[in-house]
Amino acid sequence: MELNDTDLLSRDQFGESFKWGVSTAAYQIEGGHDTDEKGLSIWDIFTAKSGSIANGHNANIACDFYNRYPEDIALVKELNIPNLRFSLSWPRIMPEGTGKVNQKGIDFYNRVIDSCLENGIEPWITLYHWDLPHELEMKGGWVNRDIISWFAEYVEVCAKNFGDRVKHWMVMNEPMVFTGAGYFMGLHAPGKKGLPNFLPAAHHAILSMAEGGRVLRNLLPDAEIGTTFSCSYIEPYTAGPKDFAAAKRADALLNRLFIEPVLGLGYPREDLPVLKKLHKYIQPGDEEKMKFDFDFIGVQNYTREVVKHSIFVPYLNAVLVKAQNRKVPLTAMGWEIYPPSIYHMLKKYGAYEGVKKIYITENGAAFTDQPVNGEVKDDQRIQYINDHLKQVLNAKNEGVNVRGYFVWTLLDNFEWAEGYHPRFGLVHVDFDTQQRIIKASGHWYKSFLQGQ
Ligand code: NOJ
Repeated sequence: MELNDTDLLSRDQFGESFKWGVSTAAYQIEGGHDTDEKGLSIWDIFTAKSGSIANGHNANIACDFYNRYPEDIALVKELNIPNLRFSLSWPRIMPEGTGKVNQKGIDFYNRVIDSCLENGIEPWITLYHWDLPHELEMKGGWVNRDIISWFAEYVEVCAKNFGDRVKHWMVMNEPMVFTGAGYFMGLHAPGKKGLPNFLPAAHHAILSMAEGGRVLRNLLPDAEIGTTFSCSYIEPYTAGPKDFAAAKRADALLNRLFIEPVLGLGYPREDLPVLKKLHKYIQPGDEEKMKFDFDFIGVQNYTREVVKHSIFVPYLNAVLVKAQNRKVPLTAMGWEIYPPSIYHMLKKYGAYEGVKKIYITENGAAFTDQPVNGEVKDDQRIQYINDHLKQVLNAKNEGVNVRGYFVWTLLDNFEWAEGYHPRFGLVHVDFDTQQRIIKASGHWYKSFLQGQ
């Protein structure tokens, strides 16, 4: 495809204080899965089970960021990217999840943070991006209510070790995805299924998210504290009342279940009746404990969903109509390219009274780009990002308090159940040689950030 240059935005249009960055996650890039006394995570166990990941891939080595972080942080600098979001691996820091702290894990993240700062890059930390210590899963993981105190202990260790230098924190990454895919559908680690796993996991994730916020606030009163949510604009398949109601239920599940209790609005039980079954897991005082006044919300958006009524999906009575069957433009994930989705989600989340500030903490796309003569011409990715930024700008100009944008992601990496096939990076990685090549999109982001 050919890029239409006249379409391209410039950084100035977003104002000087708008923050620009790139996002990554520990398990997807680090490798070193059993190096330096790291404990195993649920993903180390899950990827070892045959049939769980496309092509039998795992992230034992991934991008080898554990050893190559100086080179990769130098790339972030080279691309003029002022903010780097990365996550901490809980089992690298606490191999058994609680108790013993692994100094070698702490030392690694100290080196990463210091290297960012030496290069003039602001570190943004996500505390939980899905790699739960396996030892804790053996005790029930997110299904066990004790996880609230296990998580609080881990957050305290991180705040005490890194809070002197790290000013921006995100407690969790996309709780809907790790509880839904990991504890309801069995598609992600730990591979559990069904409502009796999902409902308590979701409730405990919300309580832990708020508790994590409180631990950070007590220990680091000046830090900027947020948490991130996956979201997709949802539309009914037809104008009929059944599809309309199905879309409303899907919206309550995918876009409201986690944010509303945190904002003090409780669970969206009226629009998603199955949530009434949560009462088994709710203890007196939980409504209060689920609330936390986050400084910002991280919005993570990739696509929209079209939903229709279905009697075959228990509890939800709704199904997502596959983008492949809708004759729409697709990414390599099979997701529809639909930039207005991010605009609608910014308007929706921006309208909640308790949301003070929004950063787009992830947006990006996978394509099947490959190097040709040492170059990766991924014009589709440039178009995708630019078109989404236009929608972000529209929302901003209409008064939504959106203050920053982070591309997902720096490096091609381990895309969970899909393995290494979908490539989301601004930088291409050859997983045999670990060679990096900055893609055309990386060069474009660099000159965009330079103001050219
Ligand atoms: C959301 C997740 O946070 C990230 O880990 C994942 O790679 C991207 N979306 C793309 O699917």
